[in-house]
Amino acid sequence: MDRQLVQDYLDEHKFVLEEPMQALGRERLFYVPVHLGYVRLCTFELLAEEIRKNNIAGAVAELGVYRGDFARYINEAFPEKKLYLFDTFNGFSKKDVLVEQAHDYSPGSQDFSDTSVELVLGKMSKPGNCIIKKGYFPDSLEGLEDTFAFVSLDADLYQPIFEGLKYFYPRLSKGGFIFIHDYNNDEYKGVKKAVTDYCKDQGVPFVPICDPWGTAVIAK
Ligand SMILES: C[S@@+](CC[C@H](N)C(=O)[O-])C[C@H]1O[C@@H](n2cnc3c(N)ncnc32)[C@H](O)[C@@H]1O
Repeated sequence: MDRQLVQDYLDEHKFVLEEPMQALGRERLFYVPVHLGYVRLCTFELLAEEIRKNNIAGAVAELGVYRGDFARYINEAFPEKKLYLFDTFNGFSKKDVLVEQAHDYSPGSQDFSDTSVELVLGKMSKPGNCIIKKGYFPDSLEGLEDTFAFVSLDADLYQPIFEGLKYFYPRLSKGGFIFIHDYNNDEYKGVKKAVTDYCKDQGVPFVPICDPWGTAVIAK
């Protein structure tokens, strides 16, 4: 869309952005990278504001960090909180891909190996808050006991998403949120299956939101 047209529309209709969106800055209306999704990012900003306002205790985390593009917003939104970053930093594991192929969830062929811990930490406004959990999830949880105020699950595949819900939901503080990206992505059908399997079994409600590829939001 033509940038000037959007600006004229906002000015003409005296479009007032909610306070947390003002914090985002109008520029992001134009510059949110497609893979992050404007709806997901703005929903995240609003929920982060709820977490801060209500003083929800616990750390924050992302499973499936890749090059840190969403993680850097989590780091920025919670400058007082520890941020756990879980990834192989080497792409999908063969074990998980075999599950995908056996159930026809996805080919699991996307390559996410062009990243590194240094590249991710270099994008963070508060790198000192980051605790890197490099390796296969859930093995990388070994010995970790913490509670969480916000978690992003963005690992694309059935097995890590299901294991992520099993670990994080019971440790999510009341008033906290979990995002599960790709809930409506037909190219990664295992994500929806993992969310529905876990949530049905545990009686956990969730809300799908309409960012590109879809995100399911769990509130506790
Ligand atoms: C779509 S990418 C994440 C995108 C990222 N959230 C962003 O903001 O761009 C998926 C990531 O999940 C990671 N991943 C998938 N299964 C995993 C597992 N079992 N253990 C650790 N990391 C895993 C992959 O290595 C990959 O980096």
